[in-house]
Amino acid sequence: MTLREPQGEQAALERAIEEAARLIAASRHVVALVGAGLSAESGVPTFRGPEGLWTKHGEPDLRDYERFVENPKRWWEMRQERASRFAELAQALETAVPNAGHFALRELEEMGRLRHIITQNIDNLHQIAGSQAITEIHGNRTKLRCVVCNHRWPLDGFPLDELPPKCPDCTSGIVKGDTVMFGEPIPRDALDECINQSRICDCMLLVGTSAVVYPAAQFPIDVKSSGGVLIEVNPNETPLTELCDVVLRAPAGEALPPVVEKLRAV
Ligand code: APR
Ligand code: ZN
Repeated sequence: MTLREPQGEQAALERAIEEAARLIAASRHVVALVGAGLSAESGVPTFRGPEGLWTKHGEPDLRDYERFVENPKRWWEMRQERASRFAELAQALETAVPNAGHFALRELEEMGRLRHIITQNIDNLHQIAGSQAITEIHGNRTKLRCVVCNHRWPLDGFPLDELPPKCPDCTSGIVKGDTVMFGEPIPRDALDECINQSRICDCMLLVGTSAVVYPAAQFPIDVKSSGGVLIEVNPNETPLTELCDVVLRAPAGEALPPVVEKLRAV
């Protein structure tokens, strides 16, 4: 006997999918704010919630960036040791591939229905799925960045014989992983683009984020206060649920593809 989802929940989800497609079709500039939940179906652990990394390993080291600034050479020399602390995450990130949720966002972009993705994820899965208009507010694990001029390079192939690596571009900055550490300012270029996108956005999808980390969680609040609409895609409630116009209470990989199909028929 297979357990069928109660009619009520399935019917409510189908109504919400209809309404989400209607709101997206009626909007001029749709932006997706993405969190770790979008990559959960790719096997990448989230940070919070029962199986979250911070839940299992304890809160992250909030002095990470401070330690880097104090002694960047030592920070570089400790990179292997740090990676071993989160071996489960590193392993998952190495093997992860985009899931139906990533491809649905790429298709919405191709259809002209999604203008930009602001992602908190560092896993590079949006790029692998083919999305183009992306701002990575917390950086990208496959890149390096100069802390002074924000020039970025692919990690592969960057000379690491001298530690800490000096920026070959501005020659004054030090190069570190592009991933934004706790305590590190969000790179100015990324933050400016997020603010710009949120300013012109009239419909924001909140996909797989617990909406507790700022400044990312501020963007949907700004969109709402300037008259835009919010669509939450998350199997669980978040602090922004009550602000949302539509809630798709399901995993992104299950909820987003039918929204794409509805919009294809518009
Ligand atoms: N589909 C959609 N949402 C999901 C799924 C799924 N399949 N699985 C889990 N979620 C939801 C959870 O309910 C939760 O609300 O994804 C969210 C994940 O929340 P977090 O683990 O807090 O991830 P995120 O919001 O991205 O965290 C923001 O915090 O630690 C920092 O830098 C880190 O970028 C991260 C930031
Ligand atoms: Zn530089």
